[in-house]
Amino acid sequence: MLAMLVLGGLAGCLDNDPLPGGGDTFIAMQADFAEFSTWSNTDVAQQDTGHVAGDRTVYVNALPAADATSFPVGTMIVKTIDWSGGTDIHAMVKRGGDYNPDGALGWEWFELTLSGDTPVIKWRGEAPPAGEQYQQIPGMSQDSGVTVTGDCNTCHGAEAGANDYVHTIPL
Ligand code: HEC
Repeated sequence: MLAMLVLGGLAGCLDNDPLPGGGDTFIAMQADFAEFSTWSNTDVAQQDTGHVAGDRTVYVNALPAADATSFPVGTMIVKTIDWSGGTDIHAMVKRGGDYNPDGALGWEWFELTLSGDTPVIKWRGEAPPAGEQYQQIPGMSQDSGVTVTGDCNTCHGAEAGANDYVHTIPL
């Protein structure tokens, strides 16, 4: 009985887990991105020349545990690229369950824009909307000779599939 009480106490402590949701699935709302610029963040080098050059910063709402083999449900990762055309903001959120079964399993993709300082969801889903690719949005490509075929799932699966589809935060 004592052990159960102690365990119960520990479980109570875990309620303070910074990850939102706390269940098997988490559906991010626009307000969940509101404070992303205050999250743990790091400047990252550009690893891929297939899309726009610019200063990249990756923000995460909570880093995975040291022994984690995947990112827990509720993990939100935002990447900003500052370039001559402005600031592009993309995100991936661990939604969990069987979401995105044909792509980055469990992850939902986002593009955000800023309204003043407030992040606004431009689109979300298992893939970008038709006609919109990563940095290959018509009229936005810096280099018309560069084409990226596929979508978010393609690169993240091919290059980072072994790290739960995330390039810059090692598990
Ligand atoms: C051409 C390959 C490619 C495509 C397509 C791509 N990404 Fe990425 N993504 C990368 C690489 C490489 C990084 C690591 C940082 C960098 O080089 O920009 C990255 C990093 C990220 C990160 C930071 C977390 C991480 O994996 O390090 C997010 C969030 C992200 N991408 C979202 C998206 C979204 C949303 C889409 C689709 C609209 C997308 N990406 C499409 C290659 C790609």
